[in-house]
Formats: sequence, C-alpha cells, structure tokens
Amino acid sequence: APRKPWGGRFAEPTDAFVERFTASVGFDQRLARHDIMGSIAHARMLGRVAVLGEAEVTSIVAGLQGIGTDIQAGRFQWQVALEDVHMNIETALVERIGEVGKKLHTGRSRNDQVATDVRLWLRDELDAIDGQLHEVLTVLVDLAEREADTLMPGFTHLQTAQPITFGHHLLAWFEMLARDRERFADCRRRVNVMPLGAAALAGTSFPIDRLYTAQLLGFDRPAENSLDAVSDRDFAIEFVSAAALLMTHFSRMSEELVLWSSAQFGFISLADAWCTGSSIMPQKKNPDVPELLRGKTGRVNGHLVALLTLMKAQPLAYNKDNQEDKEPLFDTVDTVRDSLTAVAGMLPGMTVNAERMRAAARAGFATATDLADYLVRHGLPFRDAHEVVGRAVREGVVSGRDLAEFTLDELRAFSPLIEADVFAVLTLEGSVAARDHLGGTAPAQVRAAAARARARLDNF
Ligand code: ARG
Repeated sequence: APRKPWGGRFAEPTDAFVERFTASVGFDQRLARHDIMGSIAHARMLGRVAVLGEAEVTSIVAGLQGIGTDIQAGRFQWQVALEDVHMNIETALVERIGEVGKKLHTGRSRNDQVATDVRLWLRDELDAIDGQLHEVLTVLVDLAEREADTLMPGFTHLQTAQPITFGHHLLAWFEMLARDRERFADCRRRVNVMPLGAAALAGTSFPIDRLYTAQLLGFDRPAENSLDAVSDRDFAIEFVSAAALLMTHFSRMSEELVLWSSAQFGFISLADAWCTGSSIMPQKKNPDVPELLRGKTGRVNGHLVALLTLMKAQPLAYNKDNQEDKEPLFDTVDTVRDSLTAVAGMLPGMTVNAERMRAAARAGFATATDLADYLVRHGLPFRDAHEVVGRAVREGVVSGRDLAEFTLDELRAFSPLIEADVFAVLTLEGSVAARDHLGGTAPAQVRAAAARARARLDNF
C-alpha cells in the first residue's frame, strides 16, 4: 500500500472500511485537470516569491504536466488508499520527479486546494452552460419568428382563455430561460474568487503573493478571509439553485410539449428521432425526452436540498462534510448540460399543426373578452359588458355555437350596442391583432419582441 502523505502521526494503518468510507477519489478525479492547473499556478507563485528555486518550479511544472497527460490518456493509476484527487496527484508527482515534488504543498492545504479546484471546474462548466443556453434561446427566437402568426388558444386554469400566437408563447419560454442565463452569470461572479492562500484555515507563514496566483488562474480576486475561503460553499448552492430554476422551466415547457403532442391536443408532434416506442402497443410514439426532462427536475431539486442541508450546521472552518458537496454538484452539471442538449435538439424538429391549434382556439369562446371590450368601447361599463357576454356564452353553450356563429340579430338581442362590425373582433385574427402593445400577443408585437430578444442575446 502507498504511504499516506499524512502518515507520520499514525501508529497503525487505516482501517480498510475507513479508507473506503473517507475516500473521494472515485468521484473527485473529475477535478484532476483543474487540480493540476491550480498546482502549477501555486508552484509558479512560490517561485516568484523565492520560496522555491527556479529549477524546482520548472521540474514541478513539467511533472504536473506529464501527470496531466497520463490522466488524459487513461494511463494514471488512481489509488483509493490515497484518498482523493489531490493526494493521488501529489504522490504521483513525487514518484515522477523525486524529492522536489514534496515541496509543492508548501503554504497550501487540501482545504484551500479543493475549494479552488471546484471553483475552477465550475467556472468552465458555467461558461459551457452559457453557450448552450445561448443556443437554446436562439432556437426559441427563430421559432417565435416563424410562428408569429400561428394562432392557438392561450390558457388559464388549462381552460381556453384568449387566443394568442404561438410565437408569443415561445417568447414566454425565452424570457424564463433568459432570466436563468442572467442568474448563472451572476453566480459566476461569486464562483470566480480564489480560496488559495487560505491554506488550512488561517493563512500561511510563507510570503505568498495571492494576487499573482489569482491572476495566473484568471480569478477576479483572492477571497478576503481565510476562514471563509475554505468553508464557503455558497457558490455551489447558488449554482444548484439557479440550475433547479432552469430545470423547473424545462419541466414546465416539457409538460406543455407532452400535452400538446397527445392525440387529444394534436398541436405539435416531435420528430420521430426524438421519441421512442412501446414494447407492447404498436401505435405508440412516446415523448420520453420531455418526460425525462420533467423527471430530472426532481433530482436537481434534491441536490439543492442536499447541499443546503450539508452546510446548515457546519462550524467554521473546513469540515470533512464538505467532501459531500461534489456528487450533487457534479450530477447537477451533468443533468443541466444534458437537458440543454435535449431542448436544443428537440425543439427545431417539432412539427406544428397550425390547423389543430386554430381549431382549438375557436372552441371555448376564446374571443368572449373581445366582445366585452367591444361593448366597453361602445359605452357600456366593463362589469355590465362582462354580464352581457356571459349570457351570450351561456346561450352558445346550450346551442353548441361559437359567438362568431350567432347572427347579428341574435347578438343584438343581448345588447343593442352591437353593430355589424362586431364580427371583426370575434375572429381570432382580430383578437390577437388588437393586443398591439409592448408585451402583447399581436403578430407585429411578437416580431418586434423577437428582434429585441435576438439583440439581447448578443449584447449580454
Ligand atoms: N477530499 C477533500 C474534500 O473533498 C479534500 C479536502 C480534505 N481536507 C481535509 N482536511 N481532510 O473536501
């Protein structure tokens, strides 16, 4: 068995169960590239302040780079007995370059090291997530422009409410996800702060230059307080919280896609390549992808609760509890990135059945509010207009007709204020076109909103 870097104080070998129980290398090896990046910067800084000699730095940096290559090539032997990614790499360094490798950990602790690694890693993932979100948002703007005139029923209580355009609905999704993008960007500002230099908790007695290390690693600044630096996991909680909201949005979108692709709605159909079949029912084409998106939201919500609970009773500073931050965080990133891939891939291939959407908008008296507004424009107070139209709808329900199917005389029986021009407001086109203001569903407004959305995407 390899000698533990902390073995000096111990009179007996670690219990085999404890070794397995305390080890994190099974999952934190995922941080290897960023661990090496952090170590190289730390070594360079130690060279700059003359704690290490120039030749020592050169040798350490080359050794770490070689280990990085081995890991990438799958040639690296990870050892559970060496607990975590940090001690595996440090031990390999000493094996590779000899005694000088033992100097790397000068003025550093695994406590500031791991916090640095996770932040560097998450920063890269945040940048990738931003790119993926940009792609999804672009897909939505493209679709919204294409569907700016497509009529559909808008719902409240999942009951037909008023006609809207499909483009308007797609831009509502855009707004939800644009806020998520802002939240991730805001989270990144607090991720990009450097714990290195905090050492175990109190700082170090070596003359370190934290500004230099921060600059090498692209951090905005070093953390202000060493105790906080090693124990803070707010950034992880913030990230998972933003992720939970993003997934909640995906879940709500998915719910609509599942509903809309049912035979009963028939508003859309997803591409065959994005659906799966049934092992018993030959006719089935199931929307598994949006269903899974909806389902995966649950696990991210769970990770958020796990991290909040992990932190809630921790005294300052570092506690081993923190090792438990990684799996929820990693799984959140994996889930979010796959979900973004799914949404970006699924939406462009969706077929829109404009006929079905239009027919659905005609059912359910979607233009009743338009008739009430018409009466208001002809002088009736809104509450009275509401009552008049309500009576007309009741009659429509009884006789199985939409308001537009009544004759002018029939309508005038409900109110003499109604004239022949009423039919213009009872059509779906008239209804949506009338909502012609900033944020409204009129096709012209949807096109203008799509143009603004596109501009926002790139001036972010
Ligand atoms: N594997 C540990 C973690 O993930 C690294 C820090 C360990 N520090 C310690 N003092 N045991 O948190």
